[in-house]
Amino acid sequence: MKIAILGAMPEEVEPLLEKLDDISRVDYADNRYYKAKYKGVEVVVAYSKIGCAFSTLTATILIEHFGCDTLLFSGVAGAINEDFKIGDLIYASKLCKHDLDITAFGHPAGFVPEGKVFIYPDSNLVEVAKSVANSKGIELKEGVVATGDQFISSQEKKEQIKETFNADAIEMEGYSVALVCDALNVPFFILRAISDSADMDASFDFDAFLEKSAKVSADFVLEMVEKLG
Ligand code: ADE
Repeated sequence: MKIAILGAMPEEVEPLLEKLDDISRVDYADNRYYKAKYKGVEVVVAYSKIGCAFSTLTATILIEHFGCDTLLFSGVAGAINEDFKIGDLIYASKLCKHDLDITAFGHPAGFVPEGKVFIYPDSNLVEVAKSVANSKGIELKEGVVATGDQFISSQEKKEQIKETFNADAIEMEGYSVALVCDALNVPFFILRAISDSADMDASFDFDAFLEKSAKVSADFVLEMVEKLG
């Protein structure tokens, strides 16, 4: 087993790197990859840079070049569901791409011909996550995650995404990573801790809570790696 652990930003992978053993850095395709071990399990860690294009590239390289057979994403998200508070841990029960829009041609929002509106994570990884949460007494929430190449910081936009996709959380990489894994038959799981509420305070909250929430997610993902090993 070789597990890819992917984040979007340095802040999302730094708390992982601090806890790994036997780290070696490999520079490839304009990015840095860290081959390492966690409790004896082989992992490859990287941050992609923000957004769908970069995360598609990095997820593909982790699988096709580094040979990872499982992918765990760790990072932060904005809350759309009013019950999700800053610091809450959420996994994606399904993912959609909220800014994929050819509705002008009569297609549903988030859909292009031969594509899928929703992509689902691996059910075994979901069970592993639930059992880690149970055994450690950690509250793990689930929700529909909407991905797009925009940082959402307005009530109006947030409500529109909620109404269109029944989304609970918003971020900028999950769907593209899910799409790569789905196409290549690699089990994946997208975990996020809430950093902001995607409202007018979002950019301020994001800066204030990015590091703390990223660590909440990273710590949980490492528990999953141990359990999978
Ligand atoms: N990631 C964290 N917060 C976000 C937001 N408000 N919009 C998009 N991506 C995010």
